[in-house]
Amino acid sequence: MADTLRRARLLREKLIEVFGDSGGRVEVVKAPGRVNLIGEHTDYNDGFVLPAAVDREIIMAASPRDDGEVHLYAADLDSRSSFSLSRIERDGKAAWSNYIRGVLLLLEEKGFPVRGMNAVFGGDVPVAAGMSSSAALEMAAGVMAAAIGEFAVDMVELIKIGQAAENNFVGVNCGIMDQFISGLGKRGHALFLDCRSLDYELVPLPPSDEYKIVIANTMVKRGLVDSAYNERRSQCEQGVDILKEYLPEIKALRDVTPEDLAKYQDKLPPVVAKRCEHIVFENERVKDSVAALRAGNVERFGQLMRASHESLRDLYEVSCRELDIMVEAAWQAPGVCGARMTGAGFGGCTVNLVEADAVDRFVDFVKAQYAEKTGIDPEIYVCEAEDGARPLEL
Ligand code: GLA
Repeated sequence: MADTLRRARLLREKLIEVFGDSGGRVEVVKAPGRVNLIGEHTDYNDGFVLPAAVDREIIMAASPRDDGEVHLYAADLDSRSSFSLSRIERDGKAAWSNYIRGVLLLLEEKGFPVRGMNAVFGGDVPVAAGMSSSAALEMAAGVMAAAIGEFAVDMVELIKIGQAAENNFVGVNCGIMDQFISGLGKRGHALFLDCRSLDYELVPLPPSDEYKIVIANTMVKRGLVDSAYNERRSQCEQGVDILKEYLPEIKALRDVTPEDLAKYQDKLPPVVAKRCEHIVFENERVKDSVAALRAGNVERFGQLMRASHESLRDLYEVSCRELDIMVEAAWQAPGVCGARMTGAGFGGCTVNLVEADAVDRFVDFVKAQYAEKTGIDPEIYVCEAEDGARPLEL
């Protein structure tokens, strides 16, 4: 938190440096990145997820303008983008601005009194690493628009706007998990979300002086993430279409029980059957994880994390060599309770639950193993679960 306030003050100064001192009001907001503890690729199957917001965040400082223009400066990229609220279009050059543009456009379309602004932002959510820097930027933009425009907007509505901006304006077909946890995360907690009803429960994590969430970045990003993601989505839909012939009441894989699947799995093409098997059991693992965490059974939770990774690797086939190496190193490392890939896959990060006392040894071990086997120096972030997007008082 001390770090958050320090960086927030620096960004407030940057705002004045870049745009001059209008003498007007300055608002500052933050929105965190996230890590998904378990429940991977289940969100777009109407299923369950268990992410946590982390203490890696985007901070935005802004002041209102009276001319309906929005002037943006991305401090970490030293890049600018400007537009008028009366004509919001995609920016082909400063692509980062499209997350903000999309959110402001949708807020306007819904009738919220969006105002012009000068805004600067920066942060420490690694970009393109599977920690949802884009969702954090969308949520920061939404919370900032409300602060500058002095209007109230329900957080779940803002979350849906963030997802719609990403789907329809930016053009990425993501589910709702990332925006949801960036918007509604809670310090010390994971969030158990039903992606169909959007009902959610906060689940206390083991105390952070006993266990740490450690995120290990493979530093690998594969170009095929988007196409493979969309392919998995359509394979799941194909599975539902076929299973519907036998189970007419189902609407999504969320409605298929392990027993149903066992009965009808052989009616599915082999690849589709594997995808469906992952989703059906991953949903079960999320529910089991919530029960394990509530019971303080960290060991059981660790087993479920491992089973999730194996299923993502073998059935859903969204892992990659580097993720497997990182996870296998973690499984042998000192102090580990559980480890798995996290996020969409094909690179990005792993998530680990590690005994606090052993964190340094864990980090050294995993770093060394990974570097030896891949020749890549990974980044490792020891994190805590943090609050979701909100205005900051400086
Ligand atoms: C990406 C998407 C999420 C979710 C995960 C996989 O992070 O943005 O909506 O589908 O992949 O669990």
